[in-house]
Amino acid sequence: MSPADPNPDLHPGSVARGDWWKSAVVYQVYPRSFADSDGDGVGDLGGILDHLDYLELLGVDVVWLSPVYRSPMADNGYDISDYHDVDPLFGTLEQLDELIAQLHARDMKLVMDLVVNHTSSAHAWFVESRSSTDNPKRDWYWWRSPRPGHEPGSPGAEPTNWGSAFSGPAWTYDSRTGEYYLHVFTPHQPDLNWENPEVRHAIYAMMREWLDRGVDGFRMDVINVISKVVGPIGADGRVTLPDGVVGGERDTRWPGVVDTDVFADTPAFVLNGPRVHEFLQEMHREVFSGRPPGLLRVGETPGCPVEEAVLYTDPSRGELDMVFQFEHVDLDSGPKGKWDLRPMTMLRLKQSFGRWQDGLAEVGWNSLYLGNHDQPRCVSRFGSDAPEHREQSAKALATVLHLHRGTPYIYQGDELGMSNPGFTRLEQLRDVESLNHYATAVARGENPADVIRALAYKSRDNARVPMPWDASPGAGFTAGTPWLDIHPLSSSVNAAAQVDDPDSVFSHYRRLIALRHAEPCVAHGTFRMLLANHEQLYGFERSLDDTRLLVVANLSSAADVVPNLTELVAWSSAEPLIASVPGSSPAPTDPLAAWESRVLRLT
Ligand code: NOJ
Repeated sequence: MSPADPNPDLHPGSVARGDWWKSAVVYQVYPRSFADSDGDGVGDLGGILDHLDYLELLGVDVVWLSPVYRSPMADNGYDISDYHDVDPLFGTLEQLDELIAQLHARDMKLVMDLVVNHTSSAHAWFVESRSSTDNPKRDWYWWRSPRPGHEPGSPGAEPTNWGSAFSGPAWTYDSRTGEYYLHVFTPHQPDLNWENPEVRHAIYAMMREWLDRGVDGFRMDVINVISKVVGPIGADGRVTLPDGVVGGERDTRWPGVVDTDVFADTPAFVLNGPRVHEFLQEMHREVFSGRPPGLLRVGETPGCPVEEAVLYTDPSRGELDMVFQFEHVDLDSGPKGKWDLRPMTMLRLKQSFGRWQDGLAEVGWNSLYLGNHDQPRCVSRFGSDAPEHREQSAKALATVLHLHRGTPYIYQGDELGMSNPGFTRLEQLRDVESLNHYATAVARGENPADVIRALAYKSRDNARVPMPWDASPGAGFTAGTPWLDIHPLSSSVNAAAQVDDPDSVFSHYRRLIALRHAEPCVAHGTFRMLLANHEQLYGFERSLDDTRLLVVANLSSAADVVPNLTELVAWSSAEPLIASVPGSSPAPTDPLAAWESRVLRLT
């Protein structure tokens, strides 16, 4: 296969060579839930290949493919046992090559998921590493002795008091060699030791192979977790890892994933660690520099403050092009974390997005998202999934998101206005995070019905129910039994019902994507928030040379909300570009119906 193409500009007049992604829109495919071509109930590469016309019609520029590598699937592919091959559940390497070729033929790009904070415990590196204390790969992972004075393998004997993001301690005891290994996620996902240069260089070599194969970049899974806080060299000749305070104040940068009544506030030891920037700069030198410009590098960075994001995405530092920050998806987490629900308010969302727009205005770049495979459906969370508001709120959220400065990411199904399916029973869930949380919360005495309610709102499975392609019983997703139940609204909310309907959510997304491609102000204009303290209206202005865009949306179910801002009068001669209410051509100062959104242009 030929090396990566030189990434020419995708759309005339829109971009400079290296940063074509500023005017691009990325579409995330979660393969397990996208389309099943062989009837086993699980989505696969054949299913993606069957639906490329749909993606082309939508108009997206890039597909980000969640992991399809070989995996025991303890975390649906985020536990990789072979970085060089496709898991048979998803298809073959030849089909992946075919996908790359077919996307390129349609002027689209493919970005692979890169999961290198950890491997699967079934990866050959870990199998070797765990085989003996003197194996050459022993130090590729974090092995440490039990805490002195404790029975190895018993609670409290863990080398540090860190908790895992998916419940329980972050250490698992391996009786074969009498030591523990570290895993920030499940015990099936041991953390690689990035302090070891051999590990880093093995990863860089693997990344170069994928680029040589033709992929156009990487979405880097929890990339700000790769550098841990370490102490001095211990008596065993290995760097020590420090304990934290149990029951202390929770660091609000990563709410919800670690129980701080039982464990130390672990994020403080694993997020944005002391060598993370050094490692990313080394990755840049070893993997990307010397190649044609324009390979996309987007980092997933939970608990990343805006000042840190500036460092990650400052082009002069050679680290990442943009990051997925988590501030807005943590706004509905209470003091006890992710499952401690508190209402999501539009005002806090606006304040948060506004802070990020300002923070990355001069240096760096935002990625814009409201949903992905780890988050509930954005309509149910930031909008309204009441039958009378679902479609309009899906459109309004999309309008607001896509008109911000940054690169928008669409999670599969959001372009159809999919909502949370309304889980009521544990048996409906499959996700390891959800199942572990249920077991731990109920064991510590929480009311099972309350736990289910929290899962119904926030479980990752909300976003993982199969993509509804048509109104048939299998939703056109599968001819077999789907691995997760089909959405109860699939007979009405599906792609077939929307692609030819000019008033559909899908068509609204098409118009937003087309606008970004056609109007440079969307990608490159400055951002100025309006109506900053308004509790229902979200308004802002974009500006580039002589062009100004005005976006106003009623992000509430209240009817007839008046945009009482005197400066809007100056927009009375503006050209309406996108209106979410079919057939309407409103003046900027007209009251907005529930979840109505407008985009206007002044030149
Ligand atoms: C973030 C991924 O998006 C999520 O799905 C996964 O469980 C964790 N990282 C661990 O890889």
